[in-house]
Amino acid sequence: MNRIAVVPGSFDPVTLGHLDVIGRAAGLFDQVHVLVVHNPAKTALLPIAQRVSLLEQSIADAGLPDSVIVTSWSVGLLVDYCTDVGASVLVKGIRSQVDVAYETPMAIVNRNLAGVETIFMLPDPAHAHVSSSLVRQVASLGGDIAPYVPAAVATFLQTP
Ligand code: PNS
Repeated sequence: MNRIAVVPGSFDPVTLGHLDVIGRAAGLFDQVHVLVVHNPAKTALLPIAQRVSLLEQSIADAGLPDSVIVTSWSVGLLVDYCTDVGASVLVKGIRSQVDVAYETPMAIVNRNLAGVETIFMLPDPAHAHVSSSLVRQVASLGGDIAPYVPAAVATFLQTP
């Protein structure tokens, strides 16, 4: 059976925590679709196409397998994408109880809508404090984001 998982998120920008979860999902599934989704609740830093490009570079630099693909989705429900590509599982990184509270209702609704299951994956504790919003804030104030993001992201955001 060809097991396809979708790792959805804003990835604005991708962090080392995201990359850790994506890499471990790649070890569990035949195909992993990293899906960049616009989240209207958040003020975006990067256009979707730039986030896709930085994800592609970061995934290649990390040596992740070709079974990991990056794409984006802007029309309809997340589970519509899952149905279209034959994915039955969503993978989400969970750093804290705050993430559990945020993700649990979405997981239940996604299962109710289309029978798509959600697997919560614990990131490496080294990345448990890292978030895209923190990276955006540090970068916007001129701080060093290199410890939190793949090299491609640090180069892109910190090059004047
Ligand atoms: O990285 P984020 O911003 O926490 O990712 C949240 C995201 C984009 C995965 C979430 O907002 C989402 O699933 N959006 C898709 C819209 C949708 O299908 N909503 C209904 C079921 S929850």
